Amino acid sequence: MWQTVKQVSSLCKIALICGLIVVNGVNEVTSVEFYTEKPAFLPSCKINEPGFTKCSTNTVQKLIDQLVIGIPEVVKEFGPFDPMRVHDIYFKQDSSDVARVHANLSDVIVKGFSKTIIKESRVSKKDYSWITKIFLPKMRMDANYKMEGRILLIPLRGSGKMFIEIENLDIKLYTKTRLYEKGGFTFDNVTAVRVDLNMTRVRTNFENIFNGQSKEVERSTNEFFNENWRDFYEALKPIISETVETILYDVMHKVFELIPANFFVEDIPTSEQLYGTKN
Ligand SMILES: *[C@@H]1O[C@H](CO)[C@@H](O)[C@H](O)[C@H]1NC(C)=O
Ligand SMILES: *[C@@H]1O[C@H](CO)[C@@H](O)[C@H](O)[C@H]1NC(C)=O
Ligand SMILES: *[C@@H]1O[C@H](CO)[C@@H](O)[C@H](O)[C@H]1NC(C)=O
Repeated sequence: MWQTVKQVSSLCKIALICGLIVVNGVNEVTSVEFYTEKPAFLPSCKINEPGFTKCSTNTVQKLIDQLVIGIPEVVKEFGPFDPMRVHDIYFKQDSSDVARVHANLSDVIVKGFSKTIIKESRVSKKDYSWITKIFLPKMRMDANYKMEGRILLIPLRGSGKMFIEIENLDIKLYTKTRLYEKGGFTFDNVTAVRVDLNMTRVRTNFENIFNGQSKEVERSTNEFFNENWRDFYEALKPIISETVETILYDVMHKVFELIPANFFVEDIPTSEQLYGTKN
């Protein structure tokens, strides 16, 4: 299962990176810019001073608050932060006990990121990767789906509208970066993200889950999934994790291309100081 998911995942990331390159190419004339002055909304911290994690947690919260208000360069590329429009998702899981699912999601809209609470932001002094603890009271994803497979022994083949609603979502976000220099500043190149998720409740609804064969069976199946949501979530987990990873990768990659790492961590080393080679 994991291998399949990872393969799909890395394909998505390649598509994503290609997407970014294309967008940047198109926008080159107007937005080669990055911030050369620290924006007023962003308090910076020193990693070599005590209380850094507390300071950094506040900084990341301020960044999120500003994303909700709207950072023009980010809005230009992704549209509003909440509700957010997301890339189509192609998903394939073949070798799990609870599910064998092929699903395609389009017109994906995710709501809830404006209520993001940053609980902790830890930055590693060793490689400047970071681990962020995030809480969302509610996240909802709406999409058009096409699905084929079997979940909890129920064979499925359908397409239509679906939603997934998650309550009290705890996200542990692992971000890998590589430092580089640009215009006299040090920047984070966000190279990989991974999330670990917990929640108190998942509700879903898939319209037309048996290709319209019986409304009654459709209703009772959706009810069955909601009553057994923990098992159902296990089957859907890779789709949900991947959606959250895609969103966070996308946004962070853009934000850290725009805002020098020096404005977050004042005493960050240059890439040369950290890696010991000129790049
Ligand atoms: C998902 O889309 C791919 C590519 O367009 C297609 O090959 C596949 O059959 C689709 N899967 C489903 C379940 O519709
Ligand atoms: C989710 O719960 C597990 C088990 O209680 C825990 O180990 C993990 O750290 C939690 N993850 C998050 C994101 O809260
Ligand atoms: C960021 O890293 C990717 C590979 O992970 C690389 O292709 C890209 O050139 C890097 N960008 C910069 C600005 O260093």
